[in-house]
Amino acid sequence: MKKITIAIDGFSSSGKSTMAKQLAKEIGYVYVDSGAMYRAATLYAMRHGMTNTDTGVDTEALIEALPQIDISFVRTPEETQHTILNGEDVEKEIRGMEVSSWVSPVAVIPEVRRYLVKLQQQYGKDKGIVMDGRDIGTTVFPDAEMKVFVNASPEIRAKRRYDELIEKGTPSDFESVLANIKERDHIDSTRKESPLRKADDAFVLDNDHLTREEQMQVLIKLFREKTHG
Ligand code: CDP
Repeated sequence: MKKITIAIDGFSSSGKSTMAKQLAKEIGYVYVDSGAMYRAATLYAMRHGMTNTDTGVDTEALIEALPQIDISFVRTPEETQHTILNGEDVEKEIRGMEVSSWVSPVAVIPEVRRYLVKLQQQYGKDKGIVMDGRDIGTTVFPDAEMKVFVNASPEIRAKRRYDELIEKGTPSDFESVLANIKERDHIDSTRKESPLRKADDAFVLDNDHLTREEQMQVLIKLFREKTHG
């Protein structure tokens, strides 16, 4: 069967990562979480004093440091994927609220985007990949054979993210999770360089009221159409 490229884009916490991961597993494709790459770059900036609550992100310093930011992924024995920043497993740290609050301002920087997009395109050069993010179907893989745009209401997305944080043992409060989601929606969809938007040829999946099994059925059906049709 011919291998294709699958791009899954959507708003923050719309469930696209879970969906993309599950789909990749089901069809034996590689999964790449592009958001984790922006998060890892953000953590690097935070650790090197390039983020400041009064002055924002030190864009110049970060651009200069880009070649020193090495990001990769490893598969753990439990079959989950962890993000590695310069040799260190940073999976837990990049999911916390502090990184979440800095990631969108970092992701607006065009040079950061170009650097990470290039890496993402390298991962996908042999196809057989499911990548999720904000601009995968529009910028990273505009020729992807299968594109999905996932949506859900901000409240439902905040509830999912809140439950996830609590489950991971990260203390959080619902209102700040909701505020962060709305803030990131705004920054992500209004930025100049590759803003979050649906690709014209993307299939829209509104998953407010779909169970994981139902949404997987929709995706598998679409995948079959794309690979057999
Ligand atoms: O998991 P969640 O949906 O909250 O976000 P994520 O996929 O981990 O991405 C975190 C942030 O990285 C987003 O809010 C965007 O600002 C940025 N991002 C991006 O600009 N482009 C991508 N392809 C992926 C993420």
